[in-house]
Amino acid sequence: MSPISLTRYLIEEQQAGRICADLRLLIEVVARACKSISIAVGKGDLGGVLGDAGTPGSASINVQGEAQKKLDVLSNEILLETNAWGGHLAACASEEMDHSQPIPDRYPKGNYLLVFDPLDGSSNIDVNVTVGTIFSVLRCPDGVSAPGDEHFLQPGTAQVAAGYAAYGSSTLLVLTVGHGTHVFTLDREIGSFILTRRDVRIPEETREFAANVSNQRHWEAPMQRYVDEMLAGKHGPRGKDYNMRWVASMVADVHRILTRGGIFIYPLDAKNRAQGGKLRLLYEANPMSLLVEQAGGAASTGRLRMLEVQPEKLHQRVPVFLGSKHEVEYAVALHRAHDANA
Ligand code: AHG
Ligand code: MN
Ligand code: MN
Repeated sequence: MSPISLTRYLIEEQQAGRICADLRLLIEVVARACKSISIAVGKGDLGGVLGDAGTPGSASINVQGEAQKKLDVLSNEILLETNAWGGHLAACASEEMDHSQPIPDRYPKGNYLLVFDPLDGSSNIDVNVTVGTIFSVLRCPDGVSAPGDEHFLQPGTAQVAAGYAAYGSSTLLVLTVGHGTHVFTLDREIGSFILTRRDVRIPEETREFAANVSNQRHWEAPMQRYVDEMLAGKHGPRGKDYNMRWVASMVADVHRILTRGGIFIYPLDAKNRAQGGKLRLLYEANPMSLLVEQAGGAASTGRLRMLEVQPEKLHQRVPVFLGSKHEVEYAVALHRAHDANA
């Protein structure tokens, strides 16, 4: 059978009545932006894209209070520019911008909102480890002609599409439009994303976890206990030996989980408690949670199903537990038992 390109996959989804022409165009445009980002990432030092944005001694700081890398800024610009003129969007929001940005008046407007983490895994840019782009698509509420930040505050269940690109040993686009999670690999010679795994399924059981364990002493008690139990191995309460992996790029850690199972955890800790967690709900946790649920996995804050959290702020942060279903359910049960005894 001839390879199925992203274009063909999207046209067939449209013919089946599962997406409309505007959403097809939107996803094609995001994929094109990801190809440009992939080329910039791949040039590395030769393209002058490594290192901090801003001037020496005065790094540029984003709304998160984090120093921006040159590639954070460049990827944000690529996504904004490619998506501005197609007529499919009403507004964009990004990790790298304080507020959402409406489509400029000189261009036609569409009915969708796009929110993204332009470059995920910034700490890995300069050390040649996989980074990525995460995106989520929402509908612009009916009757809203000039959307602002408040119109992005929709629960994850309202997402009409979500995905990520991973810029690793190959460049991948992982996508859901609400009918399974599918992996496309960039054929660099042809310049097209080709469907390479249809309907990914995450095993329900796992023996692998992903966590930055250097923070363990700062976590809430149930999560300290959770990791202690896994580290105790087959003679401990879980009765099996666990392996650990932590890339520190969410795209890479989630991609491993979509490939062979596992649980990803980024709990509340003493350092991030005031902000509600480290990872951002609208452009990290929600799109990844939709992809994971569509692959048969589970995603939670530890206390709530992630996709049902009602956002209150554009850059809201949350604790994250996602991956193999039974493992996530166990982590949630530990939170419940802890809260019941509090
Ligand atoms: P970003 O580079 O977009 O700010 O996201 C980084 C995130 C996520 O990708 C990763 O899982 C986590 O931060 C890593 O955190 P630590 O450096 O605390 O391990
Ligand atoms: Mn990120
Ligand atoms: Mn980022």
